[in-house]
Amino acid sequence: MSKVHVFDHPLIQHKMTIMRKVETGTKQFRELVDEVASLMAYELTRDLPLTDVEIETPVTKTTQKMIEGKKLGIVPILRAGLGMVDGMLRMMPNVKVGHIGLYRDPETLEPTEYYLKLPTDVAERDFVVVDPMLATGGSAADAISSLKKQGAQSIKLACLCAAPEGVKRIQEEHPDVDIYLAALDEKLNDHGYIVPGLGDAGDRLFGTK
Ligand code: PRP
Ligand code: URA
Repeated sequence: MSKVHVFDHPLIQHKMTIMRKVETGTKQFRELVDEVASLMAYELTRDLPLTDVEIETPVTKTTQKMIEGKKLGIVPILRAGLGMVDGMLRMMPNVKVGHIGLYRDPETLEPTEYYLKLPTDVAERDFVVVDPMLATGGSAADAISSLKKQGAQSIKLACLCAAPEGVKRIQEEHPDVDIYLAALDEKLNDHGYIVPGLGDAGDRLFGTK
């Protein structure tokens, strides 16, 4: 069964609260998504393997640790996932970025895939699928299935805000995928929106309605 990590760091909780406020405008919302994504990248990479390297400081020769050149990939779910990419890249500047385009039908809430572009060496990379919202879980579950169909062996899911229903769906359909969240909320409403949530993440990020 996949593990669920909720990052309850005070900085993340504080930024999430401002993001949730209805009066927070597009510019500030975008900046906050970016900042929280950076903070999450720090936690997401906690298990990266290190290797010993010989270096010379101005004082002496010494053996120190560096990251072992692991191949990583970030895959934002379009559109809203794009808001998390720059923040993650700031912490992991060499990772490759794939894209998966999905939209949720407002009536059925079912996701439809319209775009997929991944790095060529899919099977050798550790991927992080990013999307601010995990509501019914349909979009993330489909994105993960598409990645697996292309050969991905190692996938994590990072979202800002999740409903228990979405977490349950990922755990049932993708028990090998660990879930990283900035907040685990109460429930979904009748329109498939997370409660209390933060509204439509894509619209708030890009200033659309
Ligand atoms: C939102 C959000 C997720 C999805 C979550 O995207 O960014 O991708 O809904 O809902 P689910 O867990 O019930 O599938 P949306 O379909 O609104 O598209 P957008 O990113 O273009 O705004
Ligand atoms: N998508 C969003 O952007 N927000 C929600 O609350 C649910 C799905």
